[in-house]
Amino acid sequence: GGDHYYRVKHARGHYVYFHDELRLIPNTNPPRFIGIWRDVSTEEKALEQVQEYSSKLEKMVLGTVTAISHMVELRDPYTAGHEARVGDLAAEIARKMGLDIDTQYGLRIAGLVHDIGKISVPSEYLTKPTRLTVSEFEIIKTHASNGYSILKNIDFPWPIAEVAYQHHERINGSGYPRGLSGDEILLEAKIIAVADVIESMATNRPYRHAQGIDKALDEIRRNQGILYDTQVCEAALKLFDQQGYQLAG
Ligand SMILES: [Fe+2]
Ligand SMILES: [Fe+2]
Repeated sequence: GGDHYYRVKHARGHYVYFHDELRLIPNTNPPRFIGIWRDVSTEEKALEQVQEYSSKLEKMVLGTVTAISHMVELRDPYTAGHEARVGDLAAEIARKMGLDIDTQYGLRIAGLVHDIGKISVPSEYLTKPTRLTVSEFEIIKTHASNGYSILKNIDFPWPIAEVAYQHHERINGSGYPRGLSGDEILLEAKIIAVADVIESMATNRPYRHAQGIDKALDEIRRNQGILYDTQVCEAALKLFDQQGYQLAG
């Protein structure tokens, strides 16, 4: 008994899709079944078409978002590839945490645009070879809320704008721009935050050389549960320590 789907090759060469439903008739000895066969080729074709459209759309969204991310990074060549690497790492952390594939994909997109608000920061601040002054840093900090303003009207199926807004928040409330803490911060933003810190510390910045991945992971280890979400940190550390994850090239 049960439901079965199968395809049969038609004499003319194309496939015909069948669905059958077999049910045992109660109290029959020997057991007798009743069955219904249905040709589901039309449904099957429609389903295939929907899947094809949505995978095309998915590719288009990823392509568009990647282009925007390159555009922002053109103004700040030191950080070229930063957003893509953050997106890749964030998605891997989510996978390690057992989050579903849809959340992982959303994090890839969120990573690609989390610093989009830097488009409104003067590029000489972004590429300044010396430490920033307090007032310059205040201007750089506006990228989080600017990012939110830019993204909030795009109807993504993930909280992309909110993640851009929150990616510099810290769980003890010491972050910016709103000083959110604990549960006020989205899990996705906590993941992007950890990926962002690791990527930033491990690669070069205009005002300093890369501190390297070991220093970056030390920062995460020391501040897990203080600045960064414990579960997110544990997943990130496992990824590097046990699975040999490397930041994308
Ligand atoms: Fe940022
Ligand atoms: Fe960033």
